Amino acid sequence: MTSITIVGTQWGDEGKGKVTDYYAKDSDYIVRFQGGNNAGHTIVLGDKKFKLHLTPSGILRKDKKAVIGNGVVVDPKVLLDELKLLEEKAIDTSNLILSDRAHLIMPYHIAMDELEEKLKGGLSAGTTKKGIGPCYSDKVARFGLRVVDLYNPEAFKNKLSTTVPIKNKVFKALGEEVEFDVDDIFNEYIEYGKELEKYVDDTSVVLHEAIQKDENILFEGAQGTHLDIDHGVYPYGTSSNTISAGSSTGTGLGPRFIDEVVGITKAYTSRVGTGPFPTELEDEIGEHLRDKGNEFGTTTGRPRRCGWLDMVMLRFSTRVNSLSSIALTKLDVLAGLDEIKVCTHYIYKGEEIHHFPADIEKLSEFEPVYKTFKGWDEMDWDEISQKGYDELPDEMKEYIKYIEKETGVPIKLISIGPKRSQTINR
Ligand code: GDP
Ligand code: IMO
Ligand code: MG
Repeated sequence: MTSITIVGTQWGDEGKGKVTDYYAKDSDYIVRFQGGNNAGHTIVLGDKKFKLHLTPSGILRKDKKAVIGNGVVVDPKVLLDELKLLEEKAIDTSNLILSDRAHLIMPYHIAMDELEEKLKGGLSAGTTKKGIGPCYSDKVARFGLRVVDLYNPEAFKNKLSTTVPIKNKVFKALGEEVEFDVDDIFNEYIEYGKELEKYVDDTSVVLHEAIQKDENILFEGAQGTHLDIDHGVYPYGTSSNTISAGSSTGTGLGPRFIDEVVGITKAYTSRVGTGPFPTELEDEIGEHLRDKGNEFGTTTGRPRRCGWLDMVMLRFSTRVNSLSSIALTKLDVLAGLDEIKVCTHYIYKGEEIHHFPADIEKLSEFEPVYKTFKGWDEMDWDEISQKGYDELPDEMKEYIKYIEKETGVPIKLISIGPKRSQTINR
């Protein structure tokens, strides 16, 4: 049995969907452990493009189990819509398993996300407005409702009867004209519960049994390390533990059962949302990366901010995730540039800074220091993928070797296109 946790090492959208789908061929279970439908994971299969927000990428492989763990926040309507969409594309969704302990995103969470973003002004993270932050807030404040509540109508009604009037008072006090109705929510969610019941199980037990049977588990992280609630660019990140340790708390499998941690790293950096971004390129190279890399939010469609690769960020991610290897993606997007830069460290008030600061307000004053690499030409990436690592341009190999040396972690997977086949396994 091998279990692998996949995490994003930057600010999300590193290509986790593509890499998860690739690794899924050798896995029996593919498990989401945190986040919710703020995620947007793209998988390209032939001429079909799948954009998954809540369903684990394993759903596309018929013989695999796709698990939504307890650490995920689930909007049941979004989940049902996504399953319907998959079925319309002839994907069998009967292999989904949904944790009975996962928290539910409620209509008032979405309204509160919208409102808080407005009220926070300069502290707003530019959220996806899917209710993620308010749902995790309620979970921690012990106001939350879980999947299991849908199957105990009396207790569910009681909980709603306590929570909803409190939420209504908060909205009113903040000058909002919304009023949520206990019965409306109850009726709507009980119906969702009926539709989802066939998927619901105790996923910690399911995964422990899988381990007993020597089966392989793949944990599919969402977002990225620098959006982590503890280790990310607080308060501009998301509300869950996106780092590898989240795959234990978010599934009920202890750290002893995680064998490998793969950090998905885009060959440059992108960010959708607000907050400081030291290597951001607000020029024609940034435009080039956005256009060529198709850097537009999978969930919100927003243009992503683009910049050079930042080794301060990547060394941080190597440490907090205990990475065992890196999958480097989108190297093809850098093709055609004369020079490629990588930030090695920052300068602040004349001092060299090698570690990402806790006080991220300072980050905007940090001057990135760059190492320059020679670029590589556009090539037939399909052909190179067939031939393997040796056929990659020497300049690209230099770039790869530098990242390995700086992080001390091997780059075992190289992605040079969005398709499954455009992948080199070293
Ligand atoms: P995720 O959130 O980490 O799964 O990443 P997204 O799916 O949001 O964004 C990554 C985008 O890059 C998607 O459109 C992928 O199809 C695409 N992609 C993934 N790997 C590569 C690659 O190596 N090269 C290119 N050109 N595109 C890639
Ligand atoms: P994937 O899994 C990129 C960002 C939002 C915002 C902040 C908080 O596709 O990589 P939230 O809605 O989570 O409260 O927003 O986090 N964000 C992401 N950025 N990729 C994602 O997911 C993201 N999920 C959230 O833009 O800045
Ligand atoms: Mg994404």
